[in-house]
Amino acid sequence: MNVEIVVLAAGKGSRMKSKLPKVLHRLAGKALAEHVVDTVEGLGKIHLVVGHGANQVEDHFSERAVSFVTQTEQLGTGHAVAQAMPNVDPESIVLICYGDVPGVRRETYEGLIAIAEHGDVGLLTIRIKDPTGYGRIIRDERGNVVGIVEQKEATIEELSIDEVNTGLMAVKAKYLNEWLPKLSAANSKGEYYLTDIISMASNNGVKVTAMMGRDEKEVAGINNKEQLAVMERAWQLREARRLMQAGATVIDPARIDVRGTLKIGQDVFLDANILFEGLVVLGDDVQIAPGCVIRNSVIGNGVIIKPNTVIDGATIGDDVSVGPFARIRPGTVLAPDAQVGNFVEVKNATIGQASKVNHLSYIGDAEVGRKVNVGAGSITCNYDGVKKHTTHIGDEAFIGSNSTLIAPINVGDNAFVGAGSTLSKNVPAQDLTIARAEAKTITGWQSPLVKAQKAEASES
Ligand code: UD1
Ligand code: CA
Repeated sequence: MNVEIVVLAAGKGSRMKSKLPKVLHRLAGKALAEHVVDTVEGLGKIHLVVGHGANQVEDHFSERAVSFVTQTEQLGTGHAVAQAMPNVDPESIVLICYGDVPGVRRETYEGLIAIAEHGDVGLLTIRIKDPTGYGRIIRDERGNVVGIVEQKEATIEELSIDEVNTGLMAVKAKYLNEWLPKLSAANSKGEYYLTDIISMASNNGVKVTAMMGRDEKEVAGINNKEQLAVMERAWQLREARRLMQAGATVIDPARIDVRGTLKIGQDVFLDANILFEGLVVLGDDVQIAPGCVIRNSVIGNGVIIKPNTVIDGATIGDDVSVGPFARIRPGTVLAPDAQVGNFVEVKNATIGQASKVNHLSYIGDAEVGRKVNVGAGSITCNYDGVKKHTTHIGDEAFIGSNSTLIAPINVGDNAFVGAGSTLSKNVPAQDLTIARAEAKTITGWQSPLVKAQKAEASES
């Protein structure tokens, strides 16, 4: 049977106390609702119900294969699903997901769909220690699910029920079309509760089959910043475990953050407080020291990344050493055996094999050859205020300390640039080029202080 998916993402999320719509708050670097969309993608057509902050949510998903349904007023979860129904094939099965329940696995959703295909209402429930805030599952004496009672409606007896509604269900569209129009908002929140369709199902002789989840963390909803932080840590711990199972040494599983996808080779060593973002690929024997941030980069085998280094959008070859305190920006390629040291910034530049830029340099929009030595404090002046220009440095060139290369400029192979040179014209290969004022010594010169002291001595 055709499956269509309704993702509820219209709520304000007042408990987040934020201007940002709740479903756009990030877990492991990704918006809450995006986790859901990523998980269900491919199971069927996705309808995203937007309302609060609709423009922001639509912008966020503008590149995705989802169709938007606007719920102008947030009148409850039942009302939200009802807004989507006119666009849903009435012969399909509808999977209802919550944009603020990001951790559910695809197999779990598939399990619910399978129940609905069988003709029942598939409902995901879970037993939890502290059910506060969740809808409670009501079963009759034979154990059949006959209703859901929301926290605010529950009697003291019902409040003690520890089996709760996760919010996820799969139902035939024809049932939803029949039941949703019958919902009433005569309850303590004045909302159309989706959960009321469970008692309707039961009263209409449609069996509700509860699938009981086992992992509380999988089905937890995010309603406030504290729950967001708790889920983030749980998520990161899972990621750390995955890395360790794959053979990485993780010094402290509580101090690593992966906001995206991290792929690793063998014998990777990860020290404390490292943040990975986007897609990062680490080769074998990579060592990363504390305090590094690495985003969208490919790191070769045997690379050593020293403390407090930031790497973004770079390709780093085998056996390179980077840092401490280096900043490697997008478009950088460090060829094998290159060395980039402390307080060096590299942007959109290739540093050739076994070349060294070890201290206090800026290399931007440059092609640096093999076995080049860039001395301390040397920089490329790549920007004239309007355009960016390129610097080429040939193989085995030596750039003396504190040189200023004003681009566009070519430095030939094996050229030797004297320390402190400011160069705006091409530098020939082989020879020594030096562009600095010659030193002058004035013999017998006296400083004003010495002069004043002498004058004082002659007066007395
Ligand atoms: C809901 C369930 C509760 C369940 C809990 C699980 C109802 C009435 N209650 O409560 O039984 O235990 O989830 O996490 O369904 N939304 C809209 N439009 C609206 C209202 C909500 O799109 O008018 C969306 C929200 O953006 C959110 C989801 O629906 O993604 C759930 O809404 P929320 O207000 O968080 O419901 P809960 O009180 O958590
Ligand atoms: Ca919720």
